[in-house]
Amino acid sequence: MNICFGIWSTRGASGLSNASILSIKELAYSFNDGKPIFEYMSLNVNKGEFVSIIGASGSGKSTLFKLVTGLLEPGQGEILMNGQSQPKRLGTVGYMPQKDLLLPWRTVIDNVLLPVELTKQNKPKKRTEAQEWLTRFGLAEYEQAFPHELSGGMRQRVAFLRTLMMGKDLLLLDEPFGALDSLTKRNMHGWLLGLWGELAKTVLFITHDLEEAILLSDRIYLLKGKKGIQEVKINLPRPRNSELIYQPEFMSMRKELEWLIHHEN
Ligand SMILES: Nc1ncnc2c1ncn2[C@@H]1O[C@H](COP(=O)(O)OP(=O)(O)O)[C@@H](O)[C@H]1O
Ligand SMILES: [Mg+2]
Repeated sequence: MNICFGIWSTRGASGLSNASILSIKELAYSFNDGKPIFEYMSLNVNKGEFVSIIGASGSGKSTLFKLVTGLLEPGQGEILMNGQSQPKRLGTVGYMPQKDLLLPWRTVIDNVLLPVELTKQNKPKKRTEAQEWLTRFGLAEYEQAFPHELSGGMRQRVAFLRTLMMGKDLLLLDEPFGALDSLTKRNMHGWLLGLWGELAKTVLFITHDLEEAILLSDRIYLLKGKKGIQEVKINLPRPRNSELIYQPEFMSMRKELEWLIHHEN
């Protein structure tokens, strides 16, 4: 696969700042049926961290992201960005929804430049930047292709690049690799690890794949429905690559997490 993996960076948990970029305090939310999705849910993400959220299907992961982006408003509780309460959150984070939602009638480059158009930034400059990224993502020759001409992995890279072009420090990625076959997924993990090491971005990442969460994350939050939320630190050295999953320390971390998921606190 023609993907540029970049140089493994030495950025890792030890180099993280302690400044909070996102802090959720005692959040409660229910849809019109009145059944609570969250009750007094709190979590914190520091600048530069890679944090995953794991939970069963229907546990509210995508809803949580919609609350953070400002597409939904919490019934109760606070969502702080950089330590400040932020009532107008729309457009303040980079958001990659669960479905890639590439516009089928737009070419790859025009999909990538959508956020640039919407925010009326300098388009020629951003076009050059987007073209450089497409080259680095192994997609240069697909610049004028349409989404249906791409493989699943390519579509996800385009959707990720579009999220990146929003130019925000905090990226919310909702199961970006959920629909990919395991080999493509493995490649995408290497790709994302390399990229995250290079970019000064904070990532909040939804997945139901335990292995993926351990490999990528500094910390994991387990969403456990009415039992609340549980934080797990992943103390594995960085830089990491996808071979790490065969190491004994990775396997014991995985066993520990499986136990936590299936047992009461
Ligand atoms: N727009 C909506 N109206 C009513 N209920 C919803 C809506 N969106 C999601 N839900 C419900 O909220 C719960 C959480 O959904 P969701 O956040 O999509 O879960 P997850 O992403 O963890 O699979 C589910 O029970 C789902 O059916
Ligand atoms: Mg979801």
